Amino acid sequence: MTHARLAPLCGVTDYVFREICFEQGCEQAATEMISAMGYLCAPNQRAVTELMIRGEKEGPLAVQLFGRDPDTVAEAAKRMEDLGRFDSIDLNMGCPAHKIAPSGEGCGLMRVPDTAEEMMRKTVRAVCLPVTVKMRIGWDRAHLNAVDLARRAQDAGIREITVHGRTREQQYSGEADWDEIARVAESVDIPVYGNGDIWDGETALRRVRESGVAGVVIARGAMGNPWIFREIRQLDRGESPAPVTAEERFRMIETHYQRLLAWKPEHIAVREMRKHIGWYLKGLRGAAQIRMEVNRAETPEAVQAILSRFRQETEEAQEDGER
Ligand SMILES: Cc1cc2nc3c(=O)[nH]c(=O)nc-3n(C[C@H](O)[C@H](O)[C@H](O)COP(=O)(O)O)c2cc1C
Repeated sequence: MTHARLAPLCGVTDYVFREICFEQGCEQAATEMISAMGYLCAPNQRAVTELMIRGEKEGPLAVQLFGRDPDTVAEAAKRMEDLGRFDSIDLNMGCPAHKIAPSGEGCGLMRVPDTAEEMMRKTVRAVCLPVTVKMRIGWDRAHLNAVDLARRAQDAGIREITVHGRTREQQYSGEADWDEIARVAESVDIPVYGNGDIWDGETALRRVRESGVAGVVIARGAMGNPWIFREIRQLDRGESPAPVTAEERFRMIETHYQRLLAWKPEHIAVREMRKHIGWYLKGLRGAAQIRMEVNRAETPEAVQAILSRFRQETEEAQEDGER
């Protein structure tokens, strides 16, 4: 069986979307990254508590923490554990953002491996839950140190590692380097999960076969396409996956919308759904125009009307094509 997890994606993988992915066969997910310092200073702030919601339909869930100071991160991990809500603690050593990495958080930790190691050791010591790490292959091509950091992680008692096959310098551009991910997988005994550019089920299976990773972690490939997990399951069973139909996409938008509206104030749900709708409709004829209209609509009813029209047009176009 191909182990496939959903990666954390700030602003995308809230509990509603994670539940949808679990329903399609995702095995494990993580919260969006949460500032250890932010949590300790203001644990009841809505911006933080929203990130910590665990949906009833979710499967195994890691809470992902980021920070620069080992003691702060270890303390936040302990408090997260005390909530009794999460299955593991994941340490972010991969975020490349300008407000994060240059100040020694996220991928910035890969430039100070002694501090990164201290953070791993202190966090492992502070909690009973398994502690995992998500890192990149290095800061830039001249400093590929994921193998060294993975060995340190293993020695520190880290249970699993996810490696995103890009450097911080690459941000999200270029291609993920799966040879480098394979090198990391080879160099430690703990499970290494590979991440980067998994856009379909075939690629997921091939990456696992070729690189020796324990499984894959999917990020952008799941945006608007939670069915990627279903596809992986079907391929595992030796079935040829049926393409996702337009009808399925429209139904998923409805489900996603309803769940978001049940959770968030209407004007926020409308705003947040816009990007998801754009992703769900990607590839359908006329989707660009509809996306523009949806982005201007201010109420769920207005969005619904636009989508109903588009749905009907899509069905008619399909019927014409079949005739
Ligand atoms: C919009 C966005 C938000 C992200 N947020 C996080 C995050 O909170 N924590 C994290 O570890 N990685 C985060 N990532 C990185 C992804 O988890 C993943 O490592 C990266 O996108 C590469 O995988 P992919 O090629 O499958 O997209 C984010 C990426 C994007 C594009």
